[in-house]
Amino acid sequence: MRKFSFLIIASLALGVPNARSQKQLMVKVNQPKADIQPTMWGVFFEDINLGADGGIYAEMVKNRSFEFFRPLMGWAVKRKAEGDVLVVNRKDVNTANPRYLRVTANNASKGDIELVNEGFRGMGIKKDLRYDFSFMYHQQQPGVKLTVELLDANGKSIGGTTITPQESGDAWHKATASFNATATELKGKLKITIEGNGIIDLDMISMFPGDTWKNRPGGMRADMVQLLADMKPGFIRFPGGCIVEGFDLSQRYQWKKTIGPVEERQLLINRWNFEFAHRPTPDYFQTFGLGFFEYFQLAEDIGAEPLPILNCGMACQFNSAEVATLDELDPYVQDALDLIEFANGDVSTKWGKVRSDMGHPTPFNLKMMGVGNENWGPQYVERLKIFTKAIKSKYPDFKLVNSSGTDPNGERFDYLNNELRKMNADIIDEHYYRKPEWFFENAKRYDSYPRNGSKIFGGEYAAQSDKTVSVDNRNCWLTALSEAAFMTGLERNADVVNMASYAPLFAHADGWQWTPDLIWVNNLKSYGTPDYYVQQLFSLNKGNKVVPITLNNDVVAGQDSLYAAAAIDTKTSELIIKLVNASNKAQETSLSLDGVKKLASQGSLTVLQSDDLMAVNSFNDPAKVSPKQSTIKLSGKKINLSAAPYSFSVLRVKI
Ligand code: AHR
Repeated sequence: MRKFSFLIIASLALGVPNARSQKQLMVKVNQPKADIQPTMWGVFFEDINLGADGGIYAEMVKNRSFEFFRPLMGWAVKRKAEGDVLVVNRKDVNTANPRYLRVTANNASKGDIELVNEGFRGMGIKKDLRYDFSFMYHQQQPGVKLTVELLDANGKSIGGTTITPQESGDAWHKATASFNATATELKGKLKITIEGNGIIDLDMISMFPGDTWKNRPGGMRADMVQLLADMKPGFIRFPGGCIVEGFDLSQRYQWKKTIGPVEERQLLINRWNFEFAHRPTPDYFQTFGLGFFEYFQLAEDIGAEPLPILNCGMACQFNSAEVATLDELDPYVQDALDLIEFANGDVSTKWGKVRSDMGHPTPFNLKMMGVGNENWGPQYVERLKIFTKAIKSKYPDFKLVNSSGTDPNGERFDYLNNELRKMNADIIDEHYYRKPEWFFENAKRYDSYPRNGSKIFGGEYAAQSDKTVSVDNRNCWLTALSEAAFMTGLERNADVVNMASYAPLFAHADGWQWTPDLIWVNNLKSYGTPDYYVQQLFSLNKGNKVVPITLNNDVVAGQDSLYAAAAIDTKTSELIIKLVNASNKAQETSLSLDGVKKLASQGSLTVLQSDDLMAVNSFNDPAKVSPKQSTIKLSGKKINLSAAPYSFSVLRVKI
């Protein structure tokens, strides 16, 4: 890694023979080129790296419903006598949630029967915060008492309460109790002690912190959602990623199984559970507590357009490559049609009513959907055609995102690119997991793309400081800087590129499979990487029209290691300049503005910079590489901007 970074620094420095001489940039403010879509910069969400279960979905109990392959995974059970804690399976009467625990207490005293849950790599517990504990139960007659306690890493109690379930009979009931924690702990646990006489069946043993996003019961981690909201993303793509495809078709993501009461959402293994032999995660499952309703709600909360991606009748082609035959594709296509009705349908429609019953009678206003994730080959094209015909004939204005495979070039890409353009695809999804050099070198990628026809969605990208799926990849300043350089090219070509999102989004420090990732979390904290701040700066400073910015009459895409894009925001009458200096020397620039009568006397300058290309943010130093804002004085119609070594600057000025 060190050797690699030296090579990069050296080659970038070589590109700056005379770095101190002032570079004359020309900005044609009066020649707006293209509209920048409100969707331009968005986020890509996938349940990878404990992104959903164990991450943004704030449930603290792992395997709350005993449905993991090993029913007691995550639980330590202390029994008084053989058979007094049994896993019962009622799979013939309840396929979605077959298992529960039967606890028989026979004069049990405190300490005789205990259930301890380890959480997702421990439980993050905050002093004085309220914790909402609940479970479903069923008993013939009352007789047992449950003591619920939070434990610190040493097993000491740090808060708790007792519950004596009162209901009896055949029906299942829900019991709830809330209490405050008395200490902060990163690696806490939950202990339940059962005392008394009786037989009680327990299921959906659950605990949520009291500070979820918007204080929704059973909701999401507020700090993680806030980091997304702070980006003001134009869209949110969900639920992936490869998770859409599944290892085989039986493990594909099926949105209909992720809605309705949580206890009826059927658990599914997470394909990242076993994908990488070097990062096995045997306790990774999808409870779907975060399901499609919640994704739509999240999109609405953060003002992002929802972009669901659906399975196209093909499982992951790196894994099983299973396909549904064309004459068995109907249920897949129907899922897509029904999803549009679920999101947008009137409450009188079947799926609109389901949405309404879940608490959202007004439509979610879904405008687009992806068909297939990273699928490729003629098998993809023939399935895609069937989906497209069915969806477009019912919803002609609905936009479809099509896959161009796993890589931004090569035979598979060329084949698909050609076929999709022949089909007049609305939006083509391109993925680039490449080294930083690729990002610097490809800042002009879209300058030569066809201006008419299909639009581009840079659906997944991230610079890899080592190589794809290497555990040594770091979210360092070099990766972020190279992405910023590349993104100036996306913005310059906003007439072609309508959407872009970094991937993956979240990673749990103790439970990741894939790195690099935009945001890192543990059970208590979260922080944005330098790459996060690049994404955020582009998104918050989007503007709505591209204007030309040139150096020596050419686009600014690598000359003297400079990369630039310019936009105006016609609503606020501002000019927005983004300038990347990828060299190790400060560079003086002078911007001449064509078509501006008068400039404000000051502008706002935000700079992301580090002299160390290997610098990373961390839990202890989350803002090591983070934006610094200042005001710069302006006079006349020229702007002199000094770009620090290895910097990304955003200038906003009223025009
Ligand atoms: O972002 C991680 C994975 O990379 C996604 O699941 C997949 O689409 C891509 O290969």
